[in-house]
This record gives sequence, C-alpha cells and structure tokens, in this order.
Amino acid sequence: MPTEKKPEYSPGLAGVIAGETAICWVDPNAGLMYRGYDIHEMAQKASFEEVAYLLLNGELPNGKQFVEFTQQIAAQRALPGPVTEMLRLLPSKTHPMDMLRTGVSMLSAFDKDLSDNSHDANIRKSIRLIARVSTLISDGWRISHSQQPLPERPDLTQAGNFFYKLEGKVPQDWQIRMLDTIFNLYADHEFNASTFAARVTASTLAGIYAAVTSAVATLKGPLHGGANEESMKMLEEIKTPDRAESWLKEKLATKEKVMGFGHRVYKKGDSRVPLMREIGRDLGKRTGKDQWIPICEKLEEVMEREKHLCANVDLYAAPVLWMLGFPPELNTPIFAASRVAGWCAHVVEQHDNNRLIRPRSLYVGHELRPYAGASGKSA
Ligand SMILES: CC(C)(COP(=O)(O)OP(=O)(O)OC[C@H]1O[C@@H](n2cnc3c(N)ncnc32)[C@H](O)[C@@H]1OP(=O)(O)O)[C@@H](O)C(=O)NCCC(=O)NCCS
Repeated sequence: MPTEKKPEYSPGLAGVIAGETAICWVDPNAGLMYRGYDIHEMAQKASFEEVAYLLLNGELPNGKQFVEFTQQIAAQRALPGPVTEMLRLLPSKTHPMDMLRTGVSMLSAFDKDLSDNSHDANIRKSIRLIARVSTLISDGWRISHSQQPLPERPDLTQAGNFFYKLEGKVPQDWQIRMLDTIFNLYADHEFNASTFAARVTASTLAGIYAAVTSAVATLKGPLHGGANEESMKMLEEIKTPDRAESWLKEKLATKEKVMGFGHRVYKKGDSRVPLMREIGRDLGKRTGKDQWIPICEKLEEVMEREKHLCANVDLYAAPVLWMLGFPPELNTPIFAASRVAGWCAHVVEQHDNNRLIRPRSLYVGHELRPYAGASGKSA
C-alpha cells in the first residue's frame, strides 16, 4: 500500500479550525460576540430583525435600513400555496422538525433566484428563508393539530407574529421582548454542527436552500438542537426540585447522557446560560410555575460537583419556552426560526469566498489484499 505521512486526527473534529468567519466568535471562557458586538447587552435590547440584519450584512442597520429590513421580512412570510398543501399531506404525527426540513426543501422550487449564488441573490433568499421558516413552523403545527393556518400580520415583528400565528392572539410586549431575546441568543454560534453542515453543502456550490435543508436536518439531533426538547422531557420526569439530585445521580451511575449539559467549546460555562436563567426566573414569577428553574439550578449544582460539567443554553431554554406557552415539540423548531439567520449569514460568507470543504479521513480498514472474487460464486 502506498505510504502517506500519518495526518493528525481529532475525533469529532474537536479543536480543529475548519474555516475562517467574521460572523461570530465563541469564547471558550463563556463569551459570545456577533460581528464584534458582545451578545449580552444586544440580546436584551435588540429585536431579532436587528440581529439578523447584523449577521447578514456585517453592520448594524441605520433607522431606515432597519425599517426596510423588518418590512421586507414581514412581506415575505406567506408560503406558496402548494407548500401549505404539502404540509396537509404529511401524517399528523410528523415531527415539526421533519415538517420544517421538508418545507424548506420544497420552498426552493418556488424561488426565482434558486440557482443564483451571487451575494445579492443570497441576501434576497436569506430574507425569504428567515421569514418563511417561522411560517412553516406555525402553519405546520396548526395543520397537524387540525387547525387552519392564520393569515400573516405584517404589522407584527417576527417574534410577535410567531406567537400570533400559533395562538391567534397578539402577545403582550414583555412576551415579545422575551422571545426576541431568546431568538437573539440562538441566532448564531460559529461552526456548530448544523452551521458546519450548511457550509459543507454550500461549499459544493449547492444553493442556500440545500444548505439550510442540511442544517435543519442536522439541528434535529439530540446532541445538538434536539437537546432543548429532550431537556423538557427530563424536567417533566424529575417534577420537583427535591427529586433532582437523586434523579441525576442515578443517570450518572448508569452513564447516561444528561440533556442540557456539556459543550464542545465552553468548558467554563455557556455564555447564554445566565441570561436564559434570568428570563426563566422572571417567567417563574409571572406564571407561578416556580418549580422549573430551581430544578435546573439543583441539576447544575450536582453536575458541577459530580462531573465538572456545566449547563448549556438548552437546559434553561426548555422551561423558558414551556412557560412562554410553547409545546416542547416546538423547542427545536424555535431554535431553527432563529438560527436560520446564522445559517444564511454563513452561506453568504461561504459563497462570497468559496473553497470546497473536503477533509481527509484516516484509513483504519484492512491492509491491501488480492481480489479473489466472491467465494463460492461458481459453485
Ligand atoms: C454537547 C456534547 C455532545 C459535547 O460532547 P463532547 O465535546 O464530545 O463531550 P466531552 O468530550 O466534553 O465529554 C467529556 C466527558 O463528559 C461526559 N459528558 C459530556 N456531556 C455529558 C452529559 N450531557 N451527560 C453526561 N456526561 C456527559 C462525556 O461522556 C465524557 O465522559 P468520559 O470522559 O467518561 O468519556 C455532550 O456534552 C452532550 O452530549 N451533551 C448532552 C446533549 C446536549 O445538551 N446538547 C446541546 C449542546 S449545546
């Protein structure tokens, strides 16, 4: 067998630099920055549209640009009729992430810019994708629960319209503020698995719809975005804070993965946790559902003591979304409704300066051997 210098190998690509980006920096010491802005203050003050504009365009919008961008998104929310019809054809038990993945893929066929990977066309398609991912989630949810999709409300922002499209009620300002903050915290996270999947797909010069379809498919897994749905199941199983310690010790004793804990990059805490925890405490008081955050806090304390593992954003996002009135099956789709801004920004960046992403693998298979044909072939 021809010899080749044994390359360095890092399982799971841990610590590997797989590309450059100017969009987002994850600081392993519990920090996060979008385009040079610390996320913490911005997440609490900006609307999701402002953050999406920043991610896509590299700079914050001025007043006129902000209004225009918000209106452009609002104007693009309606789904093409056949896409809504497709949602009706899916079995009612289809998981909302599978509906979303199928919907994003189908949307591609209705976009007149489909095969144009230029910067301007990618921005136009990004606006449509950011607008319509939310609609696929809300309309898909209503259809699978035998309800009619509601008409869009272009006077509402993405966060406000998302509440409205699910429930038919215009939310209160504080609810919109909270959902904006959650969307802002989830909007990007550099080369996480779904974004990397999007960039790999985009690097073949497949279009942005193909890339976002790959990203949605990748986000669903419980080691990534699916963790925020699984975390809620776990909290419901624990039920009360006094049961948290024994529940967790049992899981650790049997070497089970505990959802909402651990992170590939953060080892000293997830930058998004403090804000999500704070929203959770506020919601606990507002809704009277005051058991969830204390359960999470107890789990955090025990996990730190027993395994030195820190909570990630999904642990707290789960009860936060539940207390805001969303069913747990929509936790990961809500993550997608926000992360689509990051995915699109990364596809734009990839296409603007593309090189095919094609790493090597380390061959660990059989030594070279002579081919003798299928055994017993002529018998
Ligand atoms: C996120 C995750 C996939 C990162 O994986 P990773 O980088 O390969 O994990 P690490 O290398 O840091 O793991 C170190 C050790 O902690 C353990 N560990 C990590 N996360 C754990 C968890 N959530 N529960 C229990 N043990 C965990 C690992 O099994 C490993 O143990 P070992 O040394 O005995 O084999 C992993 O922490 C996980 O599965 N978390 C739960 C799912 C989740 O919440 N995902 C959302 C992430 S934002």
